Formats: sequence, structure tokens, C-alpha cells
Amino acid sequence: MTPMLTAEGLTRSYRRTLALDHLTLEIPEGEVFGFIGPNGAGKTTTIRMFATLLRPTSGRCTIAGIDVVRHPFAARKLMGYMPDHIGIYDDMLVEEYLMFFAAAYRIHGRERDRVVDDVLALTDLDGKRNAPVRALSRGMSQRLGLARVLLHDPKVLLLDEPAAGLDPRARIEFKELVAELRNMGKTIFISSHILAEIGEMCTSIAILEAGKLLYSGPISEVRRRLTEESGRVLKIRVAAVDGKTIDDALDLLRAHPLVSGLREEGGAIFLRLKLTAEDPSPIAAELVRRGFALLHFSEEEIGLEEVFMRITNGVVA
Ligand SMILES: Nc1ncnc2c1ncn2[C@@H]1O[C@H](COP(=O)(O)OP(=O)(O)O)[C@@H](O)[C@H]1O
Ligand SMILES: [Mg+2]
Repeated sequence: MTPMLTAEGLTRSYRRTLALDHLTLEIPEGEVFGFIGPNGAGKTTTIRMFATLLRPTSGRCTIAGIDVVRHPFAARKLMGYMPDHIGIYDDMLVEEYLMFFAAAYRIHGRERDRVVDDVLALTDLDGKRNAPVRALSRGMSQRLGLARVLLHDPKVLLLDEPAAGLDPRARIEFKELVAELRNMGKTIFISSHILAEIGEMCTSIAILEAGKLLYSGPISEVRRRLTEESGRVLKIRVAAVDGKTIDDALDLLRAHPLVSGLREEGGAIFLRLKLTAEDPSPIAAELVRRGFALLHFSEEEIGLEEVFMRITNGVVA
């Protein structure tokens, strides 16, 4: 099957700045792809090339097999691009704003009313139809931006830093909307400078730094590789019974043959297993045998921030 998005040696310089250096990627249809990198990494440059707004210095990129430089009109029909800040249409009402852009996509008459109704419902902005664009909260204007790029029912969404500046509630709503769009079969490319901000909604990620791709792959694979390299982490809580303290538990665990390291945080013990340790249950058994009441014993998923820090420190090539 043709991948939905590809970059082959995609490169862009601005005078002396090499903003993107030979990016090669393949993104299958239906992925939610997180494009992660610090400010200045080259994310916007990449997205603008996919969006036909910027010409590559060399290399190429395709959408559904279509070369975006050679066939920009065909590529634009397939894609909805949401820039990192939406333009200034503050005096318009929400409905007018969408009607205006639908007309720009040459959607007219009854079809236009229907499409605008659909995107308003999908983005949960029905109740804001007659509100001025300027009166929307950050989360709502983000959803309006999405409603706008959905008008022509594109297969691919290119979203540049869509979660930046959203409060936690708006971020949850945004995440739900992304899940819904994914269920509709859309391929979604999302950039962010914070992995934790979008990591949970992504099926795959790429990490970019100073124009160079450091890593790309399924998020589950990143976690698995890093866990294999460093050992799994357990989270344990014990109750102090019979005069025993958490320090006694720490001493006991520190000396345990399956344990390579540990720390205490907020009353919980985080313990790193040795790479050779397969079954951690002897640790639980030992705690119970020594008279500790075991309140919690689970394996921790590696945190996305840790993933990011370790990849950008060159741990994963
Ligand atoms: N129009 C431009 N002219 C000159 N340099 C630019 C221009 N746009 C971006 N750059 C430079 O290219 C690099 C990548 O920028 P950008 O793609 O905006 O990164 P990101 O979106 O990841 O923050 C940065 O060093 C930036 O300063
Ligand atoms: Mg940017």
C-alpha cells in the first residue's frame, strides 16, 4: 500500500541556515504521527513543505503518492493544514468564518450549509455558531481552526503545534477530537515541542533536532527499546506495620539480588530491576515474608519525558 505521507531526503535551507537536513520518513494511512522537536528543530519548515507553501531546496515529499511540488493542486485537495496560529478574522462570526472558507474551497449552496453543520457538530462548536471569532477561548479557536481544515474532507491533517497553550481540559477535548478523526480514517500529522503534550494521542513519533531526524517509529517500540536497555521499573507502596518504616523496606530492597537501583518519591518506592530479572514476584514475596503490608506493586510505563530526554541525549540512535 502507498504510504499516505513520505519525505525522501527532504531538505530546506534559508540562506545560511540548514533548517531541515535530508529528512526521510514514511507514514502509513490512519496513523496519528507525532513530530517532536525543540523550537527551531525544523518542524514548521517540514509541515509547510508538505502543505505546498514552501519549496524544498532538495529532496521531495508526497501525499498519497502525489509529489506536492509537481502537483500542488491535487495535493491541496487531499490535505488540511492548520498553521501554528490562526489568522485574524476576529470580526467574523463563527458560522460566517466557516462559510467564507467553504466558499474558498468552492463548496456552495446547500452542500455548503451541510458541510458547515457537519464540521460544527464534529468540533462541538454548534452552540457558538453566532459568536464572534474573537470571543472564543483558546481551546475553542483551536477547534474552529480544525473545523476550517475539515471543510473539504481531506484525508490528511497537518497540524502545527495544535496543543500549544491549551489548558488541561482543552487538551483532553482536543485529544478526543483527534481520536474521532482517526476513527474516520484520517491520517494526522501533529507537531509539538513537548512530547508529553501529544504523546498519548500518537501511534508513532519522529524526533527532530536541529534539522536532523533522531528517531522515528511506533511509540510502543520506543518504550520497549528504552525499557530493554535500562531495565523495567516497579512502583511499590508498603505500609509501616510492627514498627517497620519505609526506610527498612528501602534497605531490604536495595540489597535484593533482582534490584539494580531505587528511589523514593511521595511515599512510593520506584525500583529498577536488573536487566536479567524476568519475574519480579520474588520481590513482593520477600516484602510480605519480612512482615511488610504490600499496598501496591506494579510495573511503570516509561514516561514520555524520559523517552524524549534519552533520545535527544543520543541514547537511541
Ligand atoms: N523564513 C525564514 N528565514 C530564515 N530562517 C528561518 C526561516 N524560517 C525558519 N528559519 C530557521 O530555520 C530553522 C527551523 O525553523 P522552524 O522550521 O520554524 O522550526 P520549528 O517549527 O521546529 O520551531 C530555525 O533555525 C529557524 O530560525
Ligand atoms: Mg514551528
